[in-house]
Amino acid sequence: MVSRYMETYFVQEPHAYLGAGTFVFIVATPLLGIAQFRIKDKKIRIIHRWSGRITMVLIIATILAGIRWY
Ligand code: HEM
Repeated sequence: MVSRYMETYFVQEPHAYLGAGTFVFIVATPLLGIAQFRIKDKKIRIIHRWSGRITMVLIIATILAGIRWY
């Protein structure tokens, strides 16, 4: 389904939502990877590890949600 809300064409399907979420993590994860060297706080390392793992799961989920199975 395509939304015409505010003249945008955002496809309201799981692939689109997962893709938008993946994009956020793809930007944030490398920034956290660099930040862990600059900010000497163990929390950044832990957050980076988990955001990296979540990024990879989201990438796979986005691909699977984008495949037409029939
Ligand atoms: C999209 C980009 C990235 C992804 C998906 C990602 C993902 C991950 C993941 C999943 C881990 C944990 C590995 C484990 O459990 O053994 C990790 C660790 C690490 N990453 Fe990244 N990373 C990214 C970018 C970066 C960047 C740009 C840097 C640094 C310039 C970086 C530096 C590190 C370091 C040093 C560790 C080890 C941290 C520790 O031992 O606590 N990463 N990364």
